[in-house]
Amino acid sequence: MKRLAILASGSGSNAEKIMEHFQHSDKAEIALVASNKTEAFVLERARKFGVPTFTFSRKEMDAGMLLEKLQAENIDWVILAGFLLKIPDHLTHAYSDKMVNIHPALLPKYGGKGMYGSFVHAAVKDAGDTETGITIHLVNEHYDEGKIIFQASTPVSLEDTPETIADKVHALEHAHFPRVIGELVGV
Ligand code: GAR
Repeated sequence: MKRLAILASGSGSNAEKIMEHFQHSDKAEIALVASNKTEAFVLERARKFGVPTFTFSRKEMDAGMLLEKLQAENIDWVILAGFLLKIPDHLTHAYSDKMVNIHPALLPKYGGKGMYGSFVHAAVKDAGDTETGITIHLVNEHYDEGKIIFQASTPVSLEDTPETIADKVHALEHAHFPRVIGELVGV
């Protein structure tokens, strides 16, 4: 059984789809949902699935407490699903090629520090792009620069707002992320 942990900072709609996807698997399980926000809705979603939760501050993560927890739980793979803190180097090294992130744009466009969630969709709208999409990639020590595993795109029209762009991107994420994780971890 592969043991996966999800790190998320917010609502966790992706985390929910992933938990649903692996709920009855006998090859992989979501063994932990961890968040840097004690109020994050993702924690409630985890409880609904009976998945253990863990919260930590940025300081604690940087000091090694999150890695300690992941190792204590024998976590094989770490999934970032809307996790908004920069991952410290000791963690990317410990899970090198075993940590995957989803980014709500077609990297290398709209990546890097400060480019997350609604900021990405507003930038796509401002630039007048005719398409956007999702990127699933491995995590290395540089923001949004790890090896790209999968991308999918969706058209953007003049009528779209950052909110409707976000809806389209979320739909793509929900459709692809759980399956791509399964392929990546080999289950
Ligand atoms: C997702 O769209 C994800 O791609 C994005 O945060 C959202 C979380 O939504 N991640 C980033 O922007 C990372 N740079 P969710 O909490 O509903 O899954």
